[in-house]
Amino acid sequence: MALWVSSSFEKLVIVMIVLVLVHHHHLANGNANENIENRVSGCDLFQGSWVEDISNPPQYNATTCPFIEKEFNCQNNGRPDHNYLYYSWHPTSCDLPRWDFIQVGSKVMKDMDRMVAFEMALGTWGAWVDTNIDPTKTMVFFQGISPNHYNGSDWNEPNAKQCQGQMTPVLGSIYPGQYPPAVAVVKRALSKIKKPVTLLDITTLSLLRKDGHPSIYGIGGASGMDCTHWCIAGVPDTWNQILYNLIIWHKL
Ligand SMILES: *[C@@H]1O[C@H](CO)[C@@H](O)[C@H](O)[C@H]1NC(C)=O
Ligand SMILES: *[C@@H]1O[C@H](CO)[C@@H](O)[C@H](O)[C@H]1NC(C)=O
Repeated sequence: MALWVSSSFEKLVIVMIVLVLVHHHHLANGNANENIENRVSGCDLFQGSWVEDISNPPQYNATTCPFIEKEFNCQNNGRPDHNYLYYSWHPTSCDLPRWDFIQVGSKVMKDMDRMVAFEMALGTWGAWVDTNIDPTKTMVFFQGISPNHYNGSDWNEPNAKQCQGQMTPVLGSIYPGQYPPAVAVVKRALSKIKKPVTLLDITTLSLLRKDGHPSIYGIGGASGMDCTHWCIAGVPDTWNQILYNLIIWHKL
């Protein structure tokens, strides 16, 4: 938990990535109690499991991609295993076609009690959405909580050295450990927004990927231990793929 707190600022930055797509015909219903909408055509894209699929390599090679920052370029930083590149996210009740673009903007918060600050900020943002968004023209997405893996007890491996040496995801669809407290804050804040907002509920699928962090293949090399960010190629590609599918499906 202490490690979670010390890294939570970074995480709040990630959490505050808010996606707004303009000029779009949105068809979610306006019911205030059902405005956390992440099902399309009866399929929850965030519920599922990771399946190893060697025939489905990442769509780019980080080694040769000029846009990937050093701390995420695990292969370049010497990570010797490759298995983690070959897991595909399989939603329980549908397929997830591959994606080809993303669109994000970002926002940063100040240093105070982080959960309190976070909930206040979300309240401010929600009020802005309710005042300014026309749901017939604009789709609003909120990116959920990206979790870390510092405590092996969370995934029933108490002797694990944080996320170091993890080479496989947690099997199945259920993470045995606790969810980050920020998840409850997000769900509470979004439930108060009257306009339709789609939560990109990436927490569970990311919790399953204890193997997806840079660990000692991040910016500090062997002297660091990064179990917060994600190797690229990696888990964030799946977040983007899901976002892409939600957008496409809404357009149909
Ligand atoms: C990425 O490219 C490098 C350099 O061309 C190559 O050595 C490496 O095997 C490639 N990695 C993957 C996962 O294809
Ligand atoms: C990991 O979690 C377990 C169970 O919650 C706890 O007893 C332990 O102190 C934690 N370890 C660290 C290093 O925080």
